[in-house]
Amino acid sequence: MASIHWALLLFLVQLPILATSSAHSDGNLTLWCHPDQAAALLQLKQSFFAAETTATILPSWQNGTNCCLWEGIICDASFGLVTVLDLSGYGLNSYGLDPALFSLKSLRRLNFSNSGLDGQIPIGISKLVNLVSLDLSSHRVSDYDDPTSAGDSFNHLREPNFEILVANLNNLRELYLDGVQIMSSSGEDWGKALAKYVPHLQVLSLEGCRLNGPIHHSLSSLHSLVAINLGSNDAGPIPEFFADFPNLSELQLSDMNLQGWFPQRFFQLKNLRVLDLSSNPNLSGHLPNFPHASSLYTLRLEGTNFSSAKPSSSGNFKLLRELTLDGKFLSMDFLSSFGVLGSLRQLKVSLMDSHKELGSILSWIGDLRNLTSLELYVCDFSWTMPSSIGNLKALRSLTMFDCNLPRPILSEIGNLIGLQKLELSDCKLHGSMASSVHNLTNLRSLYIGSCDACGTMPAAIGYLRNLRRLEISGSDFSGSIPSTIGNLTNLKSHGYLV
Ligand SMILES: *[C@@H]1O[C@H](CO)[C@@H](O)[C@H](O)[C@H]1NC(C)=O
Ligand SMILES: *[C@@H]1O[C@H](CO)[C@@H](O)[C@H](O)[C@H]1NC(C)=O
Ligand SMILES: *[C@@H]1O[C@H](CO)[C@@H](O)[C@H](O)[C@H]1NC(C)=O
Ligand SMILES: *[C@@H]1O[C@H](CO)[C@@H](O)[C@H](O)[C@H]1NC(C)=O
Ligand SMILES: *[C@@H]1O[C@H](CO)[C@@H](O)[C@H](O)[C@H]1NC(C)=O
Ligand SMILES: *[C@@H]1O[C@H](CO)[C@@H](O)[C@H](O)[C@H]1NC(C)=O
Ligand SMILES: *[C@@H]1O[C@H](CO)[C@@H](O)[C@H](O)[C@H]1NC(C)=O
Ligand SMILES: *[C@@H]1O[C@H](CO)[C@@H](O)[C@H](O)[C@H]1NC(C)=O
Ligand SMILES: *[C@@H]1O[C@H](CO)[C@@H](O)[C@H](O)[C@H]1NC(C)=O
Repeated sequence: MASIHWALLLFLVQLPILATSSAHSDGNLTLWCHPDQAAALLQLKQSFFAAETTATILPSWQNGTNCCLWEGIICDASFGLVTVLDLSGYGLNSYGLDPALFSLKSLRRLNFSNSGLDGQIPIGISKLVNLVSLDLSSHRVSDYDDPTSAGDSFNHLREPNFEILVANLNNLRELYLDGVQIMSSSGEDWGKALAKYVPHLQVLSLEGCRLNGPIHHSLSSLHSLVAINLGSNDAGPIPEFFADFPNLSELQLSDMNLQGWFPQRFFQLKNLRVLDLSSNPNLSGHLPNFPHASSLYTLRLEGTNFSSAKPSSSGNFKLLRELTLDGKFLSMDFLSSFGVLGSLRQLKVSLMDSHKELGSILSWIGDLRNLTSLELYVCDFSWTMPSSIGNLKALRSLTMFDCNLPRPILSEIGNLIGLQKLELSDCKLHGSMASSVHNLTNLRSLYIGSCDACGTMPAAIGYLRNLRRLEISGSDFSGSIPSTIGNLTNLKSHGYLV
C-alpha cells in the first residue's frame, strides 16, 4: 500500500513542469492533459457505441487535442490530471469498459449514470482508490419530462461482491448504485462492507437494488451520512439509528413495504430537508407540531397511512417546496395542520373519494400562488366551484388523472397561460376544449389520453406553436383532425393521434 502512495506522489511532483510548458505553447491558461491519460481515454472511447445508430459518440474526444477540454472531462487546475469523468447523458452504450479506464488513478469523481453499461460492475473500479464519488445508477427519464433526452441509455448492472468493490475505496463520500442488482443482497453483507471500508460515506443511494432483508446495524457507524435513499427495496423496518446521524438531510424510503409507526425522532433532525415515505400503505405516523420552522423542503407522504397529530394546530412549514399527499385521509384539518404553504412549488394530491370538503380543499390549492407543478388524481370538480385553479399563474405543469372536468374548469385551465406541460388522463372532459386551449401558447407538451366526452378537437391546437410533443390517444374526439395541426413545426418525432 505504502509504495503505491509514494509512486503516485512522485508522479504528481513531476507533472507541474510538464503541464506549465504545454500551457505556454497554447497561449492559454488551460492545462494540457497528460498524454498517457489522453491515450487511456481514447481507448475507453472504443468501449462505447451510440444508443441511436446515427449519432457520433463523444465527438470532441480526438487524438492530438487537449483532453482536459473534452466532453465529460474535468482536469485538476494545477496538474492537468483528469479528476472528473462524467459520461452520463451522452446517449452511450457499452458491453464492457476498456481496462485502460482503471489506470486513471487521479480520478476523484466517476459518473456513469445512464451510460448504457451492461453486465457486471467491472472489478477494476476498485483500483480507483482516489474516488470520492461513484455513480453507476440507472434512472428512468420520462420523455415528457425531457423530450430532448438522448435515447435509452439505462445501465443494466449487477454487483456480485460488494466487499471487493468497496474494499479499496476508502476515500469514497458518495455512492450511487440505484438500479444495480446487488447480489450480496442480505443487509448484513453490504452493510458490514460499507461500515468497514467506507466509514466516512455521506451519500448512500441504493434505490431499486433488489435488497432484501432488514438493514444491518453495522450501518449505524456511518455517522457522516447526509443522504440515504433505499427506496423500492424490500428492506424494512426503518432502522431508528438513522435518526442519530446528526447531519442527515435526505431520507428516502419510498415503496419499501414499511409497517407500523414512523419514529417521531426523525422529525427532530435539525437538518432534515427531504423526507420521502411514499407508497408504504401500512406505514402509519403523524406530523408533529413544528413550533419552530421545520427545515423540510420536500415531504412525500402519498400512499401512506399518515395523519396529523393535533388537527387544530398550525404547522410551520415555511420552507416547504414539494408536498405529495394521499386523499384517503385528507381533510381540511389535516391540511390546516400544515399552516400557510406560500413557498410551495410542487403539489401532488390524490383526492380519491369525493366528499363535501372537496370544495374547501380546492380553494386551499388555489391560494398556493407560487405553485409551478400540480398533479391531481381522482377528483370530481362537479362538486365545487373550480375558479381557484385559474389563480395559479405560476403553474408550468398540470397533470390530472381520472378527474371529472366540467366546462367551467376547462376554461379555467385556459387562464394558465404559463403552462408548458398539460396531461389529462382518464378524464371526463365535458365538451370541447376550444376556449381553453387557445391561450396556452407556451405549451411544449400536451397529452390527452383515454378521455371521454371530449367533443371536437379544437382547431386552436394549431396555435400552440411551441409544442414539442403532442399525444392524443384513446379519447373520443368527434369530427376530423383539424388541418391547423400542420402549423406545429416544432413537433419532435413522437406525435401520436390515435
Ligand atoms: C482558451 O481555452 C478556452 C476553452 O476552450 C477557449 O474558450 C479560449 O478561447 C482559449 N483562449 C485562448 C487565448 O486561446
Ligand atoms: C494518437 O496519435 C499519435 C501520434 O500521431 C499516435 O502515435 C497514437 O497511436 C494515436 N493514438 C490513438 C489512440 O489513436
Ligand atoms: C451524474 O449525472 C446525472 C445526469 O446528469 C446527474 O443527475 C447526477 O447527479 C450525476 N451524479 C453525480 C454524483 O453528480
Ligand atoms: C456534520 O457537518 C459538520 C459541518 O459540515 C461537520 O463539521 C461534522 O463533522 C459533521 N458530522 C459528522 C458526524 O459527519
Ligand atoms: C392507519 O392509522 C390508524 C391510526 O391513525 C390506525 O388505526 C390504522 O390501523 C392504520 N391502518 C393501517 C392499514 O395501518
Ligand atoms: C397491510 O395491512 C393490511 C391490513 O392490515 C394487510 O391486509 C396487508 O397484508 C398489509 N400489507 C402488507 C404489504 O403487509
Ligand atoms: C412567492 O414567490 C415570490 C417570487 O419568488 C416571492 O417573492 C414570495 O415571497 C413567494 N411567496 C411566499 C408566500 O413564499
Ligand atoms: C383566453 O382566451 C379568451 C378568448 O379565447 C380570452 O377571453 C381570455 O381573456 C384569455 N385569457 C387570458 C388569461 O389571456
Ligand atoms: C395554420 O394553418 C391553417 C390551415 O392549414 C392556415 O390557414 C393558417 O394560416 C395557419 N396559421 C398560422 C398562424 O400559421
